[in-house]
Amino acid sequence: MKDRDVTVAPRGVLRGMREVPGDKSVSHRAALMGALSREGVEVEGFAPGADCASTLRCLEALGARVQRRGDRVRVARGEGPLGAAAVLDAGNSGTTARLLCGLLAGQPGTFTVIQGDESLSRRPMRRVVDPLRTLGARIDGREGGGLLPLSVRGTSLSGGVCTPGAPSAQVKSALLLAGLSARGSVTVAEPLKTRDHTEILLEHLGVPLRREGTAVTVYPLEDLPGGTWKVPGDFSSAAFWITAAALLPEADLTLPEVGLNPTRTGLLSALGRMGLDYGVTDLALSGGEPLGTLRVRSSSLEGTVVDAPEIPALVDELPILAVAAVRAKGVTEIRGARELRFKECDRIAAMAEGLRTLGAEVEEREDGWILRGPCRLRGGEVDSFGDHRVAMALGVAALTAEGPVRIRGAACADISYPGFFEALSEDTAG
Ligand code: S3P
Repeated sequence: MKDRDVTVAPRGVLRGMREVPGDKSVSHRAALMGALSREGVEVEGFAPGADCASTLRCLEALGARVQRRGDRVRVARGEGPLGAAAVLDAGNSGTTARLLCGLLAGQPGTFTVIQGDESLSRRPMRRVVDPLRTLGARIDGREGGGLLPLSVRGTSLSGGVCTPGAPSAQVKSALLLAGLSARGSVTVAEPLKTRDHTEILLEHLGVPLRREGTAVTVYPLEDLPGGTWKVPGDFSSAAFWITAAALLPEADLTLPEVGLNPTRTGLLSALGRMGLDYGVTDLALSGGEPLGTLRVRSSSLEGTVVDAPEIPALVDELPILAVAAVRAKGVTEIRGARELRFKECDRIAAMAEGLRTLGAEVEEREDGWILRGPCRLRGGEVDSFGDHRVAMALGVAALTAEGPVRIRGAACADISYPGFFEALSEDTAG
């Protein structure tokens, strides 16, 4: 499936309404917390992609009760303790592998092996393994625990204070999940605030939590309360439509029920500075998460600078921001984003290569890019490098190109957004 190529033709019109799939980060967390709750967690709008399916499969293998009907998913703790012994396949999903490490490290009597696909097996795990070890976790793996497969021997963890060197919501969340089953409180103090879905969800379920600046503290808990709610649309999926609407002439696109958690919407701030014409209505909360309707129109964009403090709130949107930047007037500089080299592929190199192939002027830096626009993009053939966000970002670039663009391995969009390329080639009623 991952090898399927897609050809995207340029298009002129993007109007009407698009619904985006449920948020991937929130869906992973809802499922993981359900597995710690006898009452269970039930959500509507569970993310349809392969990544969240990996989390559900792993939880089922661990003995959690998982029921899925379309986008409605219910997960509850099984009868016995979570998984006495299991081999878990996290597939392509870093969030699954890392958060499970945290969840399982503090489950005495369990022994699990976590493995993943080729891309995930190259991604760094030490960032989560090392701080968990300071709480007493018994985790081993390739290169001393730096790479999958990892083995996790559940044990009674101590409490403690963890200060990860780099901002990462996955690391923070793994530690908070570990803290729920530790003997004392666990505090995570991050250098920069990252997405706070784990905190919001715990608070929503009524779990005691302390937040002070970028520090979060959780306390041991026998059993998590359950709950039912609807997961907002994934801002990271909406990002492709927001950018497409900004770049195409005469576009006017409405995106209902999109998650607007400020730790995720950095793209709106960056594109806003660049001149994005957008509005937000119908603000609401669901499961403690803010959401609303976004309306985006064709915009005249100008270059901007994005620096390290802004990165966590748009880390997954940098590939699509690069597309906006090459079509914007002037220079855009993106710095402090070295982390992109450790995503599903090296996204700095992949986007530089793809956009250059289409005729853009892109200077690759160790920690970002310098992009000069506005560039006219031509048709051609580009590579997704098996990375869903690279594939979709290049798909949007193709909409604005002068000829068709063939994207190799574009089917990997299914990781987070099944049906994206079909939707991209559909005519939206005006
Ligand atoms: C995620 C956190 C981010 C993000 C990833 C999902 C999460 O990773 O890039 O797609 O759900 O916690 P880091 O926290 O490692 O930056």
